[in-house]
Amino acid sequence: MVGRLLTRDEIRELVDRHGRGILEHEHMQFERTCFQHGAVTTYAHSIRVACLSVYFADRLHLWHRVDPRSLIRAALLHDYFLYDWHAWDNGTHRLHGFTHGHTALVNALKDFDLNAVERDSIANHMFPMTPRPPKYLEGYLITMADKISATRETFSLKRFSKPTLPKSVRGIEA
Ligand SMILES: [Fe+2]
Ligand SMILES: [Fe+2]
Repeated sequence: MVGRLLTRDEIRELVDRHGRGILEHEHMQFERTCFQHGAVTTYAHSIRVACLSVYFADRLHLWHRVDPRSLIRAALLHDYFLYDWHAWDNGTHRLHGFTHGHTALVNALKDFDLNAVERDSIANHMFPMTPRPPKYLEGYLITMADKISATRETFSLKRFSKPTLPKSVRGIEA
């Protein structure tokens, strides 16, 4: 890393650089067609979580213990469950919170080669809602960034003026 604190643009550049292959994938593009929280799509939410995870690693001076590439890739894929969760589970939302970390990992493994840090951080990002804590620091940063992003997005006033999204090309079964 650069030896001083990263700027917002540098963080975004880092996410684009390490995440390019993932961001360009057609299944990741499907995430542009689903709202995640409020008026934010799963695609935009995933980029926010990646940027915020990098921000935390940087501001907490953790680069000697955190691999930026694994952190960014796992953050981008943490919600790679590839369905619209509002319409899933007959709209009851009972299971989604508990199962989607695993679903995201299964989907991600079909599309990308993932290392142990990436696999564990995706699967356990819903801790403490799910019982197993992340094994790596990267996973904790993602869990923290995800909770903060989700809360902000859910309570943003923008949820009252949702933009129309492109029609989903197809739902993707896990
Ligand atoms: Fe999630
Ligand atoms: Fe998330």
